[in-house]
Amino acid sequence: MAQILHLYLLATLLLALSFKATSSSRHSGNNGLKSLHFALYQHETINKTGYIIVNGVAGAGVGQTTTPFGTLFAFQDPMTVTANISSKVVAIAEGTSITSSFDGLRSISIAKITLRLKNHMGSISIVGGTHNIKPADHPVVGGTGDFMFVQGYVTSSPVDLQGLTVTYKIVFHLYWPSYANKFSLHDKHVGNDIIT
Ligand SMILES: *[C@@H]1O[C@H](CO)[C@@H](O)[C@H](O)[C@H]1NC(C)=O
Ligand SMILES: *[C@@H]1O[C@H](CO)[C@@H](O)[C@H](O)[C@H]1NC(C)=O
Repeated sequence: MAQILHLYLLATLLLALSFKATSSSRHSGNNGLKSLHFALYQHETINKTGYIIVNGVAGAGVGQTTTPFGTLFAFQDPMTVTANISSKVVAIAEGTSITSSFDGLRSISIAKITLRLKNHMGSISIVGGTHNIKPADHPVVGGTGDFMFVQGYVTSSPVDLQGLTVTYKIVFHLYWPSYANKFSLHDKHVGNDIIT
């Protein structure tokens, strides 16, 4: 029992450390591109943070990991720093998905993720195909605030698909084009001009 607890504490510590390590991995050396790499955990609770809005019409039934073809689903899910839903919430994922395969496992998703990281506030928008039980890459199509002009991708992979709350690990790979820096410098300059 004590050993299990010890292992659990170690795992939690490692998770926390890996978040700190990855979240601070910000580079600007490669071709002048600034980038940010980190992972968060998205928790979705059926009929609490995610709802079927329109029922699907064919294929698989409503199950733990499947929904009928054409199902329209909407969600507003918290994203935390570790896989434990009680850990710190640093982002919110708002979006919708439509089941796009007859086996009920794939869908097309659109989401806005509002991020409150230590040094970056704003949102990114993602769009793309997702898979309910396998890892999937989603292109980042843009952002707002400190994420203005970002590109890159996020990878979602299932962590826990049992029970009413399902958890996905979301790994972010964000890249700022060189003109994003100029834009924000210019922006601050204009701001100062107005104040003085
Ligand atoms: C969620 O709500 C719908 C509609 O009220 C209901 O049919 C369904 O059984 C609920 N699902 C769960 C898992 O509670
Ligand atoms: C999650 O964290 C809370 C608060 O720190 C703790 O009480 C709980 O045991 C943890 N749950 C799991 C499943 O590890």
